[in-house]
Amino acid sequence: MAKKRTSRDKTQRDTDDRKTARYADQNITTGTGGDTHQRANGDTPVLTTQQGTPVSDDQNSLRIGERGPTALEDFHFREKIFHFDHERIPERVVHARGFGAHGYFENYQPLSDITKADIFQRAGEKTPAFVRFSTVAGNKGSADLARDVRGFAVKLYTQEGNWDIVGNNIPVFFIQDAIKFPDLIHAAKPEPDREFPQAQTAHDNFWDFISLTPESMHMVMWIMSDRTIPRSFRFMEGFGVHTFRLVNAAGKSTFVKFHWKPKLGLQSVVWNEAVKINGADPDFHRRDLWDAIQMGDFPEWELGLQLFDEDFAERFGFDVLDATKIVPEEDVPVRRVGRLVLDRCVDNFFAETEQVAFCTQNIVPGVDFTNDPLLQGRNFSYLDTQLKRLGSPNFAHIPINAPKCPFHYFQQDGHMAMMNPKGRANYEPNSWSGAAAGPRESPEKGFQSYPADEEGPKLRVRSETFADHYSQARQFYVSQTEVEQNHIANALIFELSKVERLAIRVRMVAHLLNIDTDLAKQVADGLRLKEMPKPADAAMPTQKNLKKSPALSILLNGPESFAGRKVGALVTDGVNIAILKALEAALKAEGALLEIIAPKVGGVEASDGSWVEAKQKIDGGPSVLYDAVALLPSDDGAKMLAKEPAARDFVADAFAHMKVIGHVKAALSLFEKAGISDSRDDGFIVLESKDCSAFIAACRKLRCWTRAAGAKQG
Ligand code: HEM
Repeated sequence: MAKKRTSRDKTQRDTDDRKTARYADQNITTGTGGDTHQRANGDTPVLTTQQGTPVSDDQNSLRIGERGPTALEDFHFREKIFHFDHERIPERVVHARGFGAHGYFENYQPLSDITKADIFQRAGEKTPAFVRFSTVAGNKGSADLARDVRGFAVKLYTQEGNWDIVGNNIPVFFIQDAIKFPDLIHAAKPEPDREFPQAQTAHDNFWDFISLTPESMHMVMWIMSDRTIPRSFRFMEGFGVHTFRLVNAAGKSTFVKFHWKPKLGLQSVVWNEAVKINGADPDFHRRDLWDAIQMGDFPEWELGLQLFDEDFAERFGFDVLDATKIVPEEDVPVRRVGRLVLDRCVDNFFAETEQVAFCTQNIVPGVDFTNDPLLQGRNFSYLDTQLKRLGSPNFAHIPINAPKCPFHYFQQDGHMAMMNPKGRANYEPNSWSGAAAGPRESPEKGFQSYPADEEGPKLRVRSETFADHYSQARQFYVSQTEVEQNHIANALIFELSKVERLAIRVRMVAHLLNIDTDLAKQVADGLRLKEMPKPADAAMPTQKNLKKSPALSILLNGPESFAGRKVGALVTDGVNIAILKALEAALKAEGALLEIIAPKVGGVEASDGSWVEAKQKIDGGPSVLYDAVALLPSDDGAKMLAKEPAARDFVADAFAHMKVIGHVKAALSLFEKAGISDSRDDGFIVLESKDCSAFIAACRKLRCWTRAAGAKQG
């Protein structure tokens, strides 16, 4: 039992009992219980409570006696725990997992003939921007490589207010009317009784809903394609999805669809790779964006506009108000009007990425809505959910949401009001004058809705012009390369194999028959259906004569460059330093990166006795994390690696995922152990000299798709 101390003893103890300890590079003051104390000094400020009261000890709560109860009067402890207890806010009901960055939009040329939007009036003008990428179905802690649509939400802080383009990386959507959104999301999210599966559509409820919702078939083709497993946010497109309007100063309206085109080209991973990346690095996408920006390799997209008038909309074979349809780029070319550059990571994830509130109804003069029923519903939903998520109608006061142009309004008070007007006038009309009168409306500068003629009976109906559910699904499918078509079939087989009820699998195949007979057969075969169902009854027959649209394929739009990509170099002691250095230089010249993987993270001793530091230990840097690999072991190193399961997987996966494999001759023994010795193809490039050009040239193709024919890939 500890001896009872008097307050005099205690004061004495504070000064006498302090010791110092050295933990490698850190000199620490320790308390009597060995507790770590770091003291404020010249460089570090004094810790305070939220009220600003200096804190003497942040390691121990105030207690009655050394081993006694905690005192209720310990205001520092209570304030700290109280605040911690309330750190979480509700995650977004959809798109909970996301990652944001700051940047700017640079306008190429004035577009005043098309829109009076201030952002498009002057060539070369830069407008601050914030972008948040996200997945849809998973919770905030889910893995980045879930097969899912990616959100691509852009906030443009223009001089006439914040304009949000709240888009996705897919140009169409599952449903045509916002009233079905809760059902769609309930069906996609974990099932309500068991709360699994997480971040996956591969379950009964999702496919049950989908198979009873034929309007979703076009989107199904997109989500089963590699678009939903992007290699990185930097390598994917963005789309505003709906048809919007641009309106010029004369009041002329032009329909528009918004596109974001990545400068680095499109790239996705393959499914088997996605599954493994989720284990190896669940933060793969956010880390990629963070690293690229921190290195100064700023990701860039061009803003593209598809512009068309009422006449085109009338002529076009589908309703431009139907968000399950695209306007093919071959019919209406994408005009590139500016670039979006992301050049700054957030300072604080919560303050910026978590609290940012995008909303489709945030538009500016010169931009307007159309009657797309999905868009109209979204306009209500975002503001409504953000009140709940951010807890106050004053979320526009949070710096990330506040406009960067002058703003004045009479809305007042409420939780956490930070920007409160001065003066007496908080209403209008008023008879105060000058500044005391507060802000007043401006018919000249103010937002004017496009005066579209609207009339008709009040009805709950879906327009017949929305009834073609299969033609563009087919157009998407037939526009893909054979490799991509196989991926779609394999993804459908995978997802439907996780569906327990046979009736749902059969129903899906019945829909596929209306899209493409071969696809339906392939899926039916992959599911081992005993008999082929009849095609689903279609509201409108599939138009089989729509022209192929090469713009819809990822592989037909490759970058022919390895810029922005990463090679994983597996090295051991004795690595040929000349080759390693040459490879690093060649990749740098291409705008790509080399990352060293070694048996131990401390590094290896190279052939010339120099030390090469590693970024990853072998089982922390599997080949799924790289776009191509280089195997540079010494002879002894290769023998040692051949015994390592992680090294054999490194090689076998790189091969199975159709990656370019650069190697020294010593690596041949490793190929043998990995079982790929006899399968070497032109994706294997010997690196025995300082000339790495053949390797770089092969890397520019991104993958050796010819290998896919031999080893069928999913
Ligand atoms: C074209 C279809 C749609 C697209 C492209 C889309 C896109 C997005 C994106 C990108 C986000 C994430 C925003 C962020 O990063 O904070 C988001 C969130 C959200 N979306 Fe959608 N969405 C679509 C349809 C809908 C519909 C139909 C509704 C409801 C009627 C809806 C309701 C929501 C809600 C409630 C959030 C969470 C917003 C928040 O908490 O801040 N979305 N959506």
